[in-house]
Amino acid sequence: MGKIRMTASFVILAAVIVGCESDKQSPPRTKLDDPKAPTPVYRSPLSVAVSPDGKTLYVSDRTAGCVTVLDASGGKKIRDVAIGGEPNGLCLSSDGKRLYVARRKANSIALIDTAKRIVTGHISVGPWPVAVALAPKSNRLYSCNRGNHTVSVVDLAAGKEIKQIAVVRDPAFAVVAGDESRLVVANFMPADAATAPDPASEVSIIDTKAMRQRARVKLPRGSTMARGTWVSPDGKWAYVVHLLGLFDLPITQLEQGWVHTTALSIIDLATPERLATVLLDDLTKGAPDPWAVVGSPDAKKLWISHRGVHEVSTIDIGRIHELLAGKIPAKLAEIKDAQRDNIWVRITKDKRQIAELARDLTALHISNTLVRTPSGGKGPTGMALGPDGKKLYVANYYGASVGVLDAIGGKLLATISVGGQPGLDAARRGEIFFHDATRCYQRWHSCASCHLDGGRVDALTWDFLRDGIDNGKDVISLVYMHRTPPHNRRATRPNPWESLETGVVGSHHMPPAKSEVDDLLAYVKSLRPEPNPNLPTFAPAAARGKVLFEGKANCTRCHPSPLFTDNKSYNVGTASAGDPDGRYDTPSLIEAYRTAPYYHDGRAATMKEALSPRDPKGLHGRLKDLTPKEIDDLIAYVLSL
Ligand code: HEC
Ligand code: HEC
Repeated sequence: MGKIRMTASFVILAAVIVGCESDKQSPPRTKLDDPKAPTPVYRSPLSVAVSPDGKTLYVSDRTAGCVTVLDASGGKKIRDVAIGGEPNGLCLSSDGKRLYVARRKANSIALIDTAKRIVTGHISVGPWPVAVALAPKSNRLYSCNRGNHTVSVVDLAAGKEIKQIAVVRDPAFAVVAGDESRLVVANFMPADAATAPDPASEVSIIDTKAMRQRARVKLPRGSTMARGTWVSPDGKWAYVVHLLGLFDLPITQLEQGWVHTTALSIIDLATPERLATVLLDDLTKGAPDPWAVVGSPDAKKLWISHRGVHEVSTIDIGRIHELLAGKIPAKLAEIKDAQRDNIWVRITKDKRQIAELARDLTALHISNTLVRTPSGGKGPTGMALGPDGKKLYVANYYGASVGVLDAIGGKLLATISVGGQPGLDAARRGEIFFHDATRCYQRWHSCASCHLDGGRVDALTWDFLRDGIDNGKDVISLVYMHRTPPHNRRATRPNPWESLETGVVGSHHMPPAKSEVDDLLAYVKSLRPEPNPNLPTFAPAAARGKVLFEGKANCTRCHPSPLFTDNKSYNVGTASAGDPDGRYDTPSLIEAYRTAPYYHDGRAATMKEALSPRDPKGLHGRLKDLTPKEIDDLIAYVLSL
């Protein structure tokens, strides 16, 4: 990726705030208790870029709606540049004169003149751009558009988008590889049905000349949250960080670790195939939720931010490649894994054992190739390496600061404030709890490890024991959950407070304080559906679909507006073996465009699969009476909600 300095990209949470406010401290204000109260403007630094001379940092701030310019050497804030439209990922031109910032809610890229520190223009791209990557030789910019699962190709000379390339699902990060002939894109979530044999996020390899997706590399079964990606300067290896969910084990398995592990996958770009996946956790201390990865110019070191545990890890990736190639030092070869050889020795004897790395929590520790250190604040997300490779800058999303770390030892050298934080109201406290894996026994996951994107879904099923064993349930979005009791697919909890409390006990195995549940409830109440990115595409068909939904298809009987659920349970012919009567809570259809897969066990990967009529008894509305064209219109309507 040449000299481009890229940073990690985005998070989709709740607040809708545009424009920077002053840095004064202000008291907490509770919007939910008093709708007329002004919404507090929190500082949430997300992505960082560093100027080629190493003197200046540019930090996107998602909730304050600006890019903050920091003096890296003096450790001081210089100023905010108002951007609006929810700034996410950003990158600098090679000469450092221009900054490109993805504005998710404005579907555009803002161009900033870094000398004048002003916005000089905008380029429209696909919906919900969250990350940008620059190809300086080809004079192109790429953006990852999560709203329609595409990557935009922007011709910088013409100043406009020339193509949208379809990828897999929710592209979250992109890196230009080697000679700029390829683009490596991490797809955040699995596109599979949750009941498929190996649901997992994928990595797209794009041929930039043909402007199309050339290959898809699947991450191991249960991989989600694929985002941070780095490509070695020679274009040989791509490194992607993600969660690895062992979703078919009952959730009580948490006491032995391993419900969620945090992983780094190594992809050989020549083939392209996944070479190996290594785990970044300690035996009794998880490392979720991975966000960004950056590497040293000599490709020997990698740094990874772990948002859920407020840490950065330094990985000796050069050494890991040597071990994978069979160069095992004698001392390491002596270490046993109980009675047998350790994983590295086993791989030298049998190449197929390489798959075992994705289940081995000791591999990086016995080989001394991993060190984890504090990031200097809560919720580390984007990172950038200084030009001399000595300093690492880390945006601490909930810490309102950038941590300056010694890249060599990982020691925290300083933190630079991006501005004063207003006092935290209940919703923000709840949001912080929700994203904090240190509140979980042995830190294996946060609520946000399964409820991604601010309380939405991870496209997997999980087996909570509240309704029997071996009958996993697809994760439910928490948007408007407080208005749609009872809770859970089998309606096992009567009210939101109790549901949240048992949510903490069931998934974290540490009972929350009453005030923490109050905060979580305030956070969940603050979640709002976002403007639907599909609306323009679906408009005419959706209008026809609405008539069917409310009329002939009889959907409103159980999915009445405005919440599109009557809060009752029915058997609509989808019974799973583990559930006695086949009755499930009617799900709200709000934001159904982003909550795939569908049904209690996530059996339908797409809305088309969910609504294709295979319901001869007519249990699920009158789907069986509709023509294929009418079904298409109905799908367009449901996806437009
Ligand atoms: C391991 C994945 C996972 C984690 C971690 C997790 N959840 Fe969930 N959550 C689920 C699944 C799966 C369901 C659906 C369960 C069912 O239907 O029985 C769910 C359901 C819920 C519900 C019910 C929603 C409704 O309207 O029916 C709430 C509330 C909830 N979770 C809150 C939380 C909170 C708070 C946390 C963090 C303390 C959390 N969850 C952590 C997977 C998870
Ligand atoms: C008798 C009540 C009832 C009627 C009528 C009904 N639904 Fe449903 N719907 C349900 C229930 C219950 C589920 C959950 C089933 C499960 O989880 O397996 C569901 C699930 C769904 C889902 C999956 C949503 C998700 O997030 O998993 C979609 C989409 C859906 N219905 C659309 C429709 C449409 C379109 C119609 C009209 C043709 C319709 N429903 C008619 C009760 C109903």
